[in-house]
Amino acid sequence: MSAGPDQPLVVAVPKGRILDALGPLLDAAGIDSAPLRAHDRKLVRRSADGAIAWVFLKPDDVPTYVEYGAADLGVSGRDTLLERRHDLYTPVDLGIGRCRLVVAAPRGQALPAVPRIATKYPRVAAEHFAKRGVQAEVIAVHGSVELAPLVGLAHAIVDIVETGTTLRENDLEVLETVGEVSTLLIANRASYKLRAAAIRPLVERLRAAVG
Ligand code: PRP
Repeated sequence: MSAGPDQPLVVAVPKGRILDALGPLLDAAGIDSAPLRAHDRKLVRRSADGAIAWVFLKPDDVPTYVEYGAADLGVSGRDTLLERRHDLYTPVDLGIGRCRLVVAAPRGQALPAVPRIATKYPRVAAEHFAKRGVQAEVIAVHGSVELAPLVGLAHAIVDIVETGTTLRENDLEVLETVGEVSTLLIANRASYKLRAAAIRPLVERLRAAVG
């Protein structure tokens, strides 16, 4: 799909709430964001001028498509990239989707010597505790992570905190920050060189819009 120079640039974006923040950023960069707002079930949408084919994916799959060259560019959270370690360029920090990866536990509860940690980020969590010399048992879950300590699956969690509402409403507190997260523009390494004429102007405009 992303082969020749007359082909559209394929840009992979995550379905979901980050699109609401991405639209205004694209508008500020002079990139038509209308395909992001269409209310249909199409998985590929062309820009009006045909220069970009937007493809819509689950967030975790965006870097996979970009790494393998099925998409030239993508939009992905630093959390996903930290966990998956894809071989990619990250030319622009888009400054949207800002949040923190934290260790959190039930309010006032100390962790045992070998804590069980539930998380959507098993690799990040394992490395975090290993660095601190804590032998943790990491349990991978896929969502509603805050439930795990409430029902005894785990002593603590490693998860994303944005507003803090989910932690507060489930009586959990932050014990420490693992890392800062934002949304990045990612690029396939070969595309970044071979399709530089199409990619570089987009990168420059996005950098200027981010400020
Ligand atoms: C994310 C994250 C937290 C929540 C944090 O979950 O895993 O649960 O958002 O946001 P807050 O600090 O603003 O409350 P998401 O909504 O993606 O759903 P999930 O639980 O199914 O992963």
